[in-house]
Amino acid sequence: MSELKPARILAIETSCDETACAILENGRALLSSVVASQMEIHARYGGVFPEVASRQHVLSITPVVQQSLAQAHLTLNDIDAIAVTQGPGLAGSLIVGMNMAKGMALAMDKPLVGVNHLEGHIYSSWVYEAGEKAPPAPEFPLMALLVSGGHTELNLMTDHLTYQRLGSTLDDAAGEAFDKVARLLELPYPGGPSIQKAAEEGEPTRFNFPRAWLDGTWNFSFSGVKTSVLYEVNELKKRSNGLPVHDLAASFQKAVVDVLFKKTMNAAREFGAKQILVAGGVSANRALRQAFKAQTEFPVHIPPISLCTDNAAMIGAAGYFRYALGHVSEMEMDVLPAWPLS
Ligand code: KG4
Ligand code: ZN
Repeated sequence: MSELKPARILAIETSCDETACAILENGRALLSSVVASQMEIHARYGGVFPEVASRQHVLSITPVVQQSLAQAHLTLNDIDAIAVTQGPGLAGSLIVGMNMAKGMALAMDKPLVGVNHLEGHIYSSWVYEAGEKAPPAPEFPLMALLVSGGHTELNLMTDHLTYQRLGSTLDDAAGEAFDKVARLLELPYPGGPSIQKAAEEGEPTRFNFPRAWLDGTWNFSFSGVKTSVLYEVNELKKRSNGLPVHDLAASFQKAVVDVLFKKTMNAAREFGAKQILVAGGVSANRALRQAFKAQTEFPVHIPPISLCTDNAAMIGAAGYFRYALGHVSEMEMDVLPAWPLS
C-alpha cells in the first residue's frame, strides 16, 4: 500500500460499560489513553445494567476527554479528525459518545469517522506506545479471531478494512460463556478474569467437557460446554457440599481454548493466511495467549492486556485507517447497535 497521509486522531468509545478516550498518531502511536471503567458499579447487578451505563457515560465523558487531551499535552486544535464507536453496542451508551464526538467535530470543524467496535478490536494490534520502537504491523492476508463478550468470529482480512467472515458463534459468544459459567461457579463479575484466576490452581483434565468442533464449518458453539458444566455442578452438589471450583474452571477454560485455538490454526492454513491476529476481551485470557504463543507456524498478533478489553485507542487506530482511506462519515450518522463487521 502507498504511504497514507499522516493524521492525529482523537477517539471516543462508549459502546458498553467503559467510557474511553484516546489520541493516536497515524493509526499506531498512542499519545494517551483514558478508560473510566464502570465495572464496580455493574458488579452489584452481576452484569451490565444498560440504563445505569448510559448515565455513567454522561457523567464521565467530559472529564475523560479532557484528561486524554491533557495527558497528550494537546488541545482540540492539534487534532485532525474525531473517531467514535458507532456500533455495535448498547444504544443508550453509544449515543453519549456519538453526541460528544459530533459536538467536538462541529465546534472545531473537524471530520468525523464512525467506527465499528469489532473493527476497533482488530486494529488494537496496530497500536504501540508513542516513544517506543514501532513493532512490525500485522501483514495481510491475516486470519483474525475476534473473541469478545458479544461476538466470536473468524474473519479473513486480505487488506485494510476488508473482512470475509468465515464463521461465527451459533449461540453464546466465548466471553458470554465465560461470564455465564463464572455465575454457575459463583465467581464474581466479570467472569472471564475470575475463571482465569480460579483455573490457575485447577486441573484442566479433571472434567472432560465437550468441544463443539462443527467440522466442515468455521462456526463455533459454546452453549453445549456451558450446559455440560451446569449438569456437572448439579451432580456434584447432590453428592457433596463443596464444589471443585478450580478444576471446573480449568477444565471449562481448556475446552473453550482448545476449540478457539485449533479452529483458528486450521482456518489460517486453509485460507493461506500469512499471520494470525487475536482480539477482543477474551484475548486477555492467559491460556488462550499461551496456546497461540507456543506455536511457531504463524506469527501471531495479540494486543497487550490493556488493549484487549474495551478502550478508545483501538477505535483511534481503526478510525485512522478509515479516515486516511477516505471513509469519512456524515454529521447525521446514527448509532448502529447491531452493526455487523461484514
Ligand atoms: O471486548 P470486551 O471488553 O467487550 C465486548 O466488546 O464484549 O469483552 C468482554 C468479555 C467479557 O465476556 C469478559 O468476561 C471477557 O471479555 N474477558 C475474559 C478475560 N478478560 C475479559 N475472558 C477470559 N479470560 C480473561 N482474562
Ligand atoms: Zn469490546
